[in-house]
Amino acid sequence: MCGLVGYVGERPALPIVLEGLRRMEYRGYDSAGVAVIVDGKLQWAKKKGRLEVLEAELQTVDWPSGVGIGHSRWASHGEPSDINAHPHSDCNGHFMIVHNGIIENFRELRAELEAKGHRFSSQTDTEVVPHLVEELYAGNLEQAFLGAVKRLRGAFALILVSDLHPDRVLAYRQSSPLVVGLGDNGNFVASDIPALLPYTREVYLLEDGELAVVTAHEVRVMADGKEVEKEVFHVDWDPLAAEKGGYEHFMLKEIHEQPQAVLATAAAYLNENSVNLAELGLTEQAARSMQKLTIVACGTSYHAGLVGKYVIEDLARLPVEVDIASEFRYRKPVLKEGDIVLVISQSGETADTLAALREAKRLGARVWAITNVLGSSVAREADAVLPTFAGPEIAVASTKAYTTQLVVLTLIAIHLAQLRGTASNEELAALVAAVHNLPALLEEPLQQQDRLQQLAKTLTTHEDIFFIGRGLDFAGSLEAALKLKEISYIHAEALAAGELKHGTLALITQGTPVVCLLTQSQLREKMESSIEEVAARGGEIFLFDTMGDGELERLANWRLPLSPVHPVLGPVLAIIPLQMLAYFVALERGCDVDKPRNLAKSVTIE
Ligand code: G6P
Repeated sequence: MCGLVGYVGERPALPIVLEGLRRMEYRGYDSAGVAVIVDGKLQWAKKKGRLEVLEAELQTVDWPSGVGIGHSRWASHGEPSDINAHPHSDCNGHFMIVHNGIIENFRELRAELEAKGHRFSSQTDTEVVPHLVEELYAGNLEQAFLGAVKRLRGAFALILVSDLHPDRVLAYRQSSPLVVGLGDNGNFVASDIPALLPYTREVYLLEDGELAVVTAHEVRVMADGKEVEKEVFHVDWDPLAAEKGGYEHFMLKEIHEQPQAVLATAAAYLNENSVNLAELGLTEQAARSMQKLTIVACGTSYHAGLVGKYVIEDLARLPVEVDIASEFRYRKPVLKEGDIVLVISQSGETADTLAALREAKRLGARVWAITNVLGSSVAREADAVLPTFAGPEIAVASTKAYTTQLVVLTLIAIHLAQLRGTASNEELAALVAAVHNLPALLEEPLQQQDRLQQLAKTLTTHEDIFFIGRGLDFAGSLEAALKLKEISYIHAEALAAGELKHGTLALITQGTPVVCLLTQSQLREKMESSIEEVAARGGEIFLFDTMGDGELERLANWRLPLSPVHPVLGPVLAIIPLQMLAYFVALERGCDVDKPRNLAKSVTIE
């Protein structure tokens, strides 16, 4: 979603604000804008398009001031345009606001304000806020801002600047993330930590209902009219981790980081030959009496959950339901006191996932969370948190978060199986050993860049590509298809291979590309039959398998043999060349890999 940034201090604000926006462009990139107080007056610029367009516009300005705010937008209300870009202002240009989220009651507020004579210029929901502040302002900025916020319904993070109080920036959080960065001779506000990394590692994480009053030398946080004592959260990321580090795109860098990310994540929970998930606080008795586990997530994290279902049901003999978060909360989920709900979220800020988490807690469930962002809303609200150690993931298409989520899910399955006594020690020890070996194995497909690049050239002109697999490979092909469609805009559809003949086979004709995944040796024969069915209709077979022999050569038009791997870990290995394939197809088609159209990294609206 949208990226927000604000600065007040002794340095010129404009370069800091623009750099913050650049580092958060993955949150939204259809327009951008800034407002800066220059010689006691608010000046602003906003442009449709990427940040570069705004930067070009600003090249000639001389705005030396130390107070400014900025915004990169992912349009929700009103098309991307110069006028709808943020910041938005009141009638007289004294109050400027940047906003992330949705103000649900903006129509009635706008009608009310228009009736009082306020003139609106955009189609956005946001514009009601500066007009409300203008309406309520009687000399005290904090009071007017809080009064305005009280009138709003929905989820929002807001940053306000006013030339009537040029020493401060105000920020308010309601269900959309905001962090305050504590610097020397200057302080910051942003919707995400990467914006602050060049300047500070010490932050306050704002909670819902908190107002931050930020000046150059002081940050005060208030809630319910009282000052709140905030704890400083130290960000221990390597700041370079959020840079491209010589790669052309974040996505390629993040694909290559997977061996390291998997190693770091496994190391956090594995001893030599046992799993340590004490954080879950699960006793043998509690594990044995579990009736089911419910997994809730969105997008790629949801796909990880589907893999988790196969693995947990297989090893721990525990029924697992996997739900899309936006469905879960509106379908009256059947949960009882003490049931366990596992939410998975790379960002820890996805609005639907967060709402599902809250709904689960309301129903009395205990919530476990797998997230990549410590300090995120999901991490703070869950009862037990299992972080992935993937480091910051910037590309919109998720890669290393997915593979590290699969590692944590595998370890949860082992832990549950141990406690429930549903798998033998030998079986579990073999899997633990396989997890230890996994990082080295993941290096291999990364060496296949040239072959995948060649294959990408042949796929680039197609408009429909199918992905099939069975068991865990079905779950894996859903993610492979998502990768391709989100960054290359080729229609990609994944199916359980056995389901093909119940409808979709009608679409397979001469030359239709079908990507086949085969990492589950117990399903090899069945998968071979499915491949034969496709070949008999003239479909072109692209096979990714870990079978470790040459016999499959005759079945495929193109084949990438992968090293044999423990079947439970097959999807972790197989997704890597498929992520790379999606990447190269997108490059061939001239797509903006890191910032695909219409999408955003962290979807903080429902
Ligand atoms: C967005 C991203 C996806 C991501 C999904 C869930 O749609 O573009 O890559 O999988 O949100 O995000 P989360 O942070 O909750 O895993």
